[in-house]
Amino acid sequence: MREELDEIRAEALERVAAARSADELREIRVRLFGKKGALTQLMKRLGALPPAERPQAGTLVNETRALLEEAWEAKNDALAAEALTARLREETIDVTLPGTALPAGHKHPLSMVIEDIENIFIGMGFAVAEGPEIETDYYNFEALNLPADHPARDMQDSFYITEEFLLRSQTSPVQIRTMESMCPGLPVKIIAPGKVYRNDDDATHSPMFHQVEGLLVDRDVRMSDLKGVLLLFIREMFGPEREIRMRPSFFPFTEPSAEIDVSCMFCGGSGCRLCKGTGWIEILGSGMVHPRVLEMGGYDPGAATGFAFGVGVERVAMLKYGIDDMRLLFDNDIRFLRQF
Ligand code: DAH
Repeated sequence: MREELDEIRAEALERVAAARSADELREIRVRLFGKKGALTQLMKRLGALPPAERPQAGTLVNETRALLEEAWEAKNDALAAEALTARLREETIDVTLPGTALPAGHKHPLSMVIEDIENIFIGMGFAVAEGPEIETDYYNFEALNLPADHPARDMQDSFYITEEFLLRSQTSPVQIRTMESMCPGLPVKIIAPGKVYRNDDDATHSPMFHQVEGLLVDRDVRMSDLKGVLLLFIREMFGPEREIRMRPSFFPFTEPSAEIDVSCMFCGGSGCRLCKGTGWIEILGSGMVHPRVLEMGGYDPGAATGFAFGVGVERVAMLKYGIDDMRLLFDNDIRFLRQF
């Protein structure tokens, strides 16, 4: 048995040393220690030896087994290390290769215009306020002095959700919400940009569009203040050579009300196709805050006065960039958007 063991050991050590792969090594293991492996078989035969020889033979077999296990493990580790080194060598990264360029987008023209408007008014000391797009009939109409039979309150013109709630049809409700939250503090000096919704859809109307509301309430606010602020806004937006004119108009929440026209930025005021030969282009609605609206906001019309205005963002964008179809602003055609 001793000779047999020597032979098994010598052959196994040689084969382990010569093994070139994990597969080969696995096979050697099976052949040695597996069910029918050489060492396993040998151990089975220990029982057949005369009792006196068994302990010595057992020790011998165990020692050989331990030695072979150790040699096998060492080789296994060495092969794994070799494989890792080889893989690392193959997988080196060439850090000098050019990276994958990610195309950078940019702001939508409407976002650009909203930011321009915000910056102009922030420069004049206005704060930016916000209100909900799902609004109550009270804030959207009633508190703004719109009578029950006003056409905007018709289901045909506004998107009602229930009898009480609708998608706001204007940013004007933010006037009331802001006054309520600030009352009796003065001045109230805010602009409120945001989305508004109306049942309209053609080349110049979209069911969703954007407005910026303006509100200034303080002691002794006059119409000349309104004119000065709007003239500055228009010149910052459309150029220092622009003029404005005020035309009498009507809004339920202002008295008096004025439509603001800007001298045509396309012909300079001499008259062209875009201003329909008049030299003027209508740009926004405005007026002195109606006493009843001040009261609804919690202010005493005898102690404070104010002006308000509302400007359509799409309209400003179309005039500023010479866009003739409002739908282009919502189609998201990248060829159109890239121009801004
Ligand atoms: N809310 C009006 C609209 O949607 C616009 C407007 C006009 C707002 C005059 C005002 C204003 O604050 O004073 O047509």
